[in-house]
Amino acid sequence: MIVDIIVDLQYGDCGKGKITHFLCKEHKYTHVVRYNGGCNAGHTIYHKGEKFITHHIPAGVFFGIKSIIGPGCVVDIDQFFKEILELENKGIMARDLIKVANNTHVITSKHLNEDGKDTKIGTTKRGNGPAYRDKYARAGVRAENIPELEPYLIDFYEEMHQEDVIALFEGAQGFGLDIDWGDYPYVTSSHCTVAGAMLNGVPPKAVRNVWGVAKSYETYVGTKNFQGKDPIFDKICEIGQEYGATTGRKRQVNWFDWSLLEKAFNINGVTHLVINKMDVLREADAWKLKKGGKIVDFGSEDVFKEFVTNNLAQTGATIYFSGDKAKI
Ligand code: IMP
Ligand code: MG
Repeated sequence: MIVDIIVDLQYGDCGKGKITHFLCKEHKYTHVVRYNGGCNAGHTIYHKGEKFITHHIPAGVFFGIKSIIGPGCVVDIDQFFKEILELENKGIMARDLIKVANNTHVITSKHLNEDGKDTKIGTTKRGNGPAYRDKYARAGVRAENIPELEPYLIDFYEEMHQEDVIALFEGAQGFGLDIDWGDYPYVTSSHCTVAGAMLNGVPPKAVRNVWGVAKSYETYVGTKNFQGKDPIFDKICEIGQEYGATTGRKRQVNWFDWSLLEKAFNINGVTHLVINKMDVLREADAWKLKKGGKIVDFGSEDVFKEFVTNNLAQTGATIYFSGDKAKI
């Protein structure tokens, strides 16, 4: 088994869907696997000029690649079937490609009701926290116990531990929302680092590339105060169209936090870094970031890029700066 992993280095919404889509086009993957989270995620994907938002289903289905909801995820059955129908109505034949690991846990109506009442964290109200809590309390329900899912179930070990398997592991949420490394308690309930992928039964020696995805500024959705005072953040929000793909909420905006990026980069062992939405800062004409709590003004795109490249030079990682704001 050979595995490439995609991780988000900030607070989600950095364009992982776009990178998954790009990598599926370029590489010969046999499988695409979602390894954490549930339908709290919203991946915006542009495929052949059309916009799709997926929550559960990995982007492999756009390319006829077998796509799996891994055991590290939690799955909402109604949402799962709804998404298959939505994709098929737009011509993406997902039904025969999508599989669910036997040991994936299920989000029940009880979980949805409970999460629906959250006011403390500002969750997506998709039942994630209660589903993971019940999993760890050994009070959860696994996919293998749901008759409706029968045609979709697989034994993840049997499926993946084969010689010719080359899999792309697609993460959800991001480092700043990670249950262990994020800003607790303003976090999600799953593991958003490469470790989250490994928990799905991936041996370390199988990992080939780690694609870390960030964007040129930061956004966060939830109850904590995140947005900076500068009015430019509202402008960046508008230019970047920073509204949640799952809940439609306005995302709070702040400068790129270099210290957070370095930490996320190192903990994930990133080999390929993508900084998305460079065109948004270009349009806002604001080349700033935060380093050690201080705002640094680079004055130009070139100096901003030079800073990122020079600071990561010794890691040997390949760095990409990407634009096309409409496509994230
Ligand atoms: P939960 O994952 O729904 O429990 O929400 C916990 C926190 O993570 C909240 O601040 C959510 O807004 C945030 N969150 C969850 N999923 C995503 C995502 O896919 N993108 C961005 N933020 C997310
Ligand atoms: Mg998203």
